[in-house]
Amino acid sequence: MELPLTEPFKTKMVENIYRSTGSEREMWIKEASLNLFNLRSEQVIIDLLTDSGTGAMSDKQWSAMMLGDESYAGASSFYKLKDAIKDLTGFNYFLPAHQGRAAENVLFSVLVKEGDIVPGNSHFDTTKGHIEFRKAQAVDCTIDEAGDTTSGHLFKGNVDLEKLEQVLKANPAEKISCVIVTVTNNTAGGQPVSMSNIREAGKLSHKYGVKFIIDAARFAENAYFIRMREDGYAEKEIRDIAREMFSYADGMTMSSKKDAIVNMGGFTAFREEGLYQLASTFNIIYEGFLTYGGMSGRDMNALAQGLYEGTELPYLESRINQVAYLGSKMKEYGIPLLEPYGGHAIFIDAKKFLPHIPKEEFPAQTLAIELYLEGGVRGVEIGALMADRDPVTRQNRYPDLEMVRLALPRRVYSNNHMDYVAAVVRNVFDRRNMVKRGVQIEWEAPIMRHFTVKLNRF
Ligand code: F0G
Repeated sequence: MELPLTEPFKTKMVENIYRSTGSEREMWIKEASLNLFNLRSEQVIIDLLTDSGTGAMSDKQWSAMMLGDESYAGASSFYKLKDAIKDLTGFNYFLPAHQGRAAENVLFSVLVKEGDIVPGNSHFDTTKGHIEFRKAQAVDCTIDEAGDTTSGHLFKGNVDLEKLEQVLKANPAEKISCVIVTVTNNTAGGQPVSMSNIREAGKLSHKYGVKFIIDAARFAENAYFIRMREDGYAEKEIRDIAREMFSYADGMTMSSKKDAIVNMGGFTAFREEGLYQLASTFNIIYEGFLTYGGMSGRDMNALAQGLYEGTELPYLESRINQVAYLGSKMKEYGIPLLEPYGGHAIFIDAKKFLPHIPKEEFPAQTLAIELYLEGGVRGVEIGALMADRDPVTRQNRYPDLEMVRLALPRRVYSNNHMDYVAAVVRNVFDRRNMVKRGVQIEWEAPIMRHFTVKLNRF
């Protein structure tokens, strides 16, 4: 028989999980104001809040940490990381930052000014936050299929090139800070962007004299999907696919906490010295000197190693298969999911799961709370709470997708854990009609409210 794929790693260290009871969870979620971000991690059994910074580093990464060079200027760890970034992206210039949003802050301090427009494919919430904080506007040009959870489109993360061109045509180049394409498209469900789409979006931006930037948090998973799904890439190395993706861009922001499998870190990287020089000043102000900017030497060493491990085919195969395993188990139970399954997460369609809860009562957040109560599974709402209010009208924004994301940390959980998660979701699904009402906001911050919001039940 054909041998099944196994994880290309084994466990060397374990972290115990406390199995809480339902009544403990009932008490804790109340104390947390029904906001899963407020829970302590010991109060969670399976933590699928995010795949960001939650991965397990390898023995090679841990040993690389011991060789970290902690010099303020010119550390060998910086040059090691610079070489890895140059090798995998082709970018000559890079600036370390403490995480992805810090990289966005540095880059947008150069590019984004009040009144600007930043087109892209469903900007991630911190990306949008940085844009709106500067009184600029993030314009979502994702293809319409992304809003349809059942569309089988293989590259649902794609930019709609017509929508993009309309924005580029309608505005002078000076008003457009840059075009930013996020791979994979997290907000649309961890959906990949095809190589041809990246190439064409890049070309279009350049035709209108606008810089083309890649938000590369999950670039390796995107490259894996290109290899699996796009003509002409089946035999290509993941790293070569990644190099080609970056070859169409002028620069990138990276949250290293995802595909580079480190617990903290990020960077910006650039093709041209000009943009790098402008960004350098902001890096020094916000992050630190050019050769460490927000990262210790040991962390840069682990990151350099992680970039290579995260772009290995057997690893990516096992990772993406695990996500699909969870998806197929849940599908077997009839749970409405976003398909095709994303690279880092399974997204439950809360509108279909709880159709009787009106959008004003935040069905996805309601569902996330139920999953926690049922079995201590922590997911995250990707819906109206996260979409926040319109900065001008202050009205709630209700996006097409109202979902609970179950994001899988890298190299952390087994498929037994996935079986447990699927069973938890199934139990809630079986009793969904007993969930009578949703939640309402008791207190919210003026921007990025979902992190700190306080809720109560109707
Ligand atoms: N870009 C994308 C596509 C992201 O998914 C994230 C973070 C960031 C930028 C910001 O990076 O967290 O290092 O500052 N996403 C996490 C998530 C938090 O859960 O999806 P960061």
